Amino acid sequence: MVAGGAGFIGSNFIHYMLEKYQDYKIINFDKLTYAGNLDNLKSIENNPAYTFEQGDITDLARLNEVIKKHGVTHLINFAAETHVDRSIHGGIKDFVMTNSLGVQMLLDAVRANEIERMVNVSTDEVYGALGLDEDRKFTENTPIMPNMPYAAAKAGGDLMCNAYWVTHKTPVIVTHCSNNYGPYQFPEKLIPFFIFKAMADEPVPVYGDGLNVRDWIHAIDHSSALDLLLHQGNNGEVYNIGVDNERNNLEITKMILSILGKPESLLTYVKDRPGHDRRYAIDSTKIMNLGWQAKYTRDKFAKGLQETVEWYLENKDWVEKIRSRMNEINQHIKG
Ligand SMILES: NC(=O)c1ccc[n+]([C@@H]2O[C@H](COP(=O)([O-])OP(=O)(O)OC[C@H]3O[C@@H](n4cnc5c(N)ncnc54)[C@H](O)[C@@H]3O)[C@@H](O)[C@H]2O)c1
Repeated sequence: MVAGGAGFIGSNFIHYMLEKYQDYKIINFDKLTYAGNLDNLKSIENNPAYTFEQGDITDLARLNEVIKKHGVTHLINFAAETHVDRSIHGGIKDFVMTNSLGVQMLLDAVRANEIERMVNVSTDEVYGALGLDEDRKFTENTPIMPNMPYAAAKAGGDLMCNAYWVTHKTPVIVTHCSNNYGPYQFPEKLIPFFIFKAMADEPVPVYGDGLNVRDWIHAIDHSSALDLLLHQGNNGEVYNIGVDNERNNLEITKMILSILGKPESLLTYVKDRPGHDRRYAIDSTKIMNLGWQAKYTRDKFAKGLQETVEWYLENKDWVEKIRSRMNEINQHIKG
């Protein structure tokens, strides 16, 4: 069962798994918040190996019902409130409910139904921030020290996984991945947001001085890492996932403008957001020692970004449908 499979990374993961394992059955359990989009899974909606079940991970009765109905053996959790800006400017309760309480409900469901393994997909943001000139990366032993409400809510879920493992031996693995890019990403996030702005010849708004650094990983590489951990990870452990592809926002913006053939004059600096972490960098030695290798390594980032931009250009129906929903969604959330 894939919780949150209608979102960006969850849907990439479902496509990846169905292509790779013809004999697996996948249940997509998703609440369909504003970020959930079944259009991401349109090409497989009639695949007999795939079933969608609407539900909220904070609803234990519904979780138990779906797990029993389908005889779920493995569970991977992508379900989360994920937009950092929204966690700063309102609606924090939803973040705590889903990202912390929801994970606890999933752990209870894993225990009650004797599920063989759960993987809780989390983020490097729980580690806090690094300085630009600091010569270190986040390891699995870096203390959890989140700076943003979103990351604090995610950290709550991660810590609950550790507590259930230590207390009940609940078979759970936690992952901390860096920033993802790829197809099917909701256009409030940096890369698709900038692609859409540039495509419309509108100013592309970069926070602060644009020098904030992230380690950008393709969603397909994140998926292959999670696949490996589902099969070969060790219960009770934490794994970092990244590709040593540190880039600042200015560099990303200029690359997108160049791929689209747009002038750098579209780049506009806007007031920085509060608590904007300066740099994240991931040490992935532990998962690489299990045999994981990314396809889009640092030297292939230009290719990965080019393919991603082309995907948004080629999938006009997907883009237009989601763009027409954007205003409505923002009004609803502000209200
Ligand atoms: N996007 C990134 O760069 C990134 C990086 C590292 C880790 N992560 C983690 O990966 C996971 C997926 O991220 P994403 O970018 O695909 O998110 P997303 O916002 O695109 O998708 C989240 C999905 O979860 C669903 N959902 C939300 N609340 C739910 C609930 N209570 N019950 C059931 N479903 C619910 C939504 O409908 C949506 O389909 C998150 O846990 C996030 O913290 C994301």
